[in-house]
Amino acid sequence: MNTASVKTILTMTGSNQTLTVDGWVRTKRESKGVSFLELNDGSTIKNLQVVVEAAYPGYEDVLARINTGCSLSVQGRLVPSEGAGQTVEVKAENITIIGETPQDFVLQKKRHSFEFLREIAHLRARTNSFGAVARVRSAMSYAIHSFFQERGFLYIHTPIITGSDCEGAGEMFQVTTIPLETVPLVNGQVDYSRDFFGKKASLTVSGQLEGETYALALKNIYTFGPTFRAENSNTSRHLAEFWMVEPEMAFCNITGNMDTAEEFLKYIFKYVLDTCADDMDFFDSRISKGIIENLQNIINSNFERVAYTEAVDQLLKAGHSFEFPVKWGIDLQSEHEKFLTEKIYNKPVILTDYPREIKAFYMKQNDDGKTVRAMDVLVPRLGEIIGGSEREDSYDKLVQRIRENDLNPDDYWWYLDLRRFGSVPHAGFGLGFERLIQFVTGMQNIRDVIPYPRAVNSLDF
Ligand code: 4AD
Ligand code: MG
Repeated sequence: MNTASVKTILTMTGSNQTLTVDGWVRTKRESKGVSFLELNDGSTIKNLQVVVEAAYPGYEDVLARINTGCSLSVQGRLVPSEGAGQTVEVKAENITIIGETPQDFVLQKKRHSFEFLREIAHLRARTNSFGAVARVRSAMSYAIHSFFQERGFLYIHTPIITGSDCEGAGEMFQVTTIPLETVPLVNGQVDYSRDFFGKKASLTVSGQLEGETYALALKNIYTFGPTFRAENSNTSRHLAEFWMVEPEMAFCNITGNMDTAEEFLKYIFKYVLDTCADDMDFFDSRISKGIIENLQNIINSNFERVAYTEAVDQLLKAGHSFEFPVKWGIDLQSEHEKFLTEKIYNKPVILTDYPREIKAFYMKQNDDGKTVRAMDVLVPRLGEIIGGSEREDSYDKLVQRIRENDLNPDDYWWYLDLRRFGSVPHAGFGLGFERLIQFVTGMQNIRDVIPYPRAVNSLDF
């Protein structure tokens, strides 16, 4: 007897072999003394049709106990299907009901809004959309590792609790064991020497700075882990806890960085199209029409590489009225980013050489004294998906930038040491994993591509 997943069974021919399959009932349909159960076990978006004939012992009683959502172990024979929609089906010979559900089980109703499903995040993985997102997310995680491992990058585990602010933007969640009711003060200041670490600690916003220390020893590294931002951005593309992929390459400049980012994204898209075909068909037909073709086009063309100054000129020339008016020096908003990728270039765009005032302290300064060697990858529908740069590798210039950003060079002593001992040009970027999943699946809201979203005023589970 075979025990197999639904995915495997659906690739088999129905030659009357006996097998056992476990899963949850998606639907039950009765017609003329025969019942059809659609069984799903999460291995694929497709269901396996189980046919229960009237001659089944205790037919009425057994079927009365089976509702949407209940779990079964079915033993039966795999035969060619007479109905449309599937090539094989299982004729049930022995059904074990493992866990029952009441008739009014919440997922009995077929179409719930994504908003409602967020309120039952513990059950939403049982729907087609969330099962598909989970499978694609898993496949993409695997592809991220394959891409870098195939190229000899080392996977480095950078810390989650940190004493430094990588982006210098002050958007960090504090980590403390001091009860808020009894904060120890010295001259009105918090006495962190009495906190767990003896100093102020936070959840990391990025593994980049620690990643750089390893790149400057091991050449090519990447991190892939959770990052945290206390940004007060209640949008469909911001989370307070999200996953970031951050490669860092020594002996590499901004051009090498752009090449890697482009090759990396195309590799992921191709991997998902190749390995998640059924799920991608679902996204294409139910979530975002044309998304497969869209990804294929991206794989087969080059990203546009444009300097910030040129992009601003193009936006001004377009004469479009934006909610946030465009002028040189502004931090581009997602409306501008989308306009560039969707209306002006009609493809992913890598924007480079941003004004230094709007970018992080660690980016390498250009000789013009105004811009830095930043590179953001912007995509249609979402805007920024990757942020990166060549890093400032000169000790003096880096100290000066840290000061200009009102940060204290003493806090970054170890980071500055990299520029004192065998400094080299190096570059890297950070990819927001959930934004990438949004882009690939067409899911509108970032809260629907991570199992348990954490965002401003939202921590339901
Ligand atoms: O552009 P960011 O802030 O870059 C960095 O953190 C660098 N230290 C990365 C590096 O060079 N190693 O963030 C990188 C990406 C963004 O492009 C975006 O895709 C994602 O992280 N991101 C978020 N995703 C979801 N929710 C948020 N609140 C995000 N903030 C950034
Ligand atoms: Mg950014």
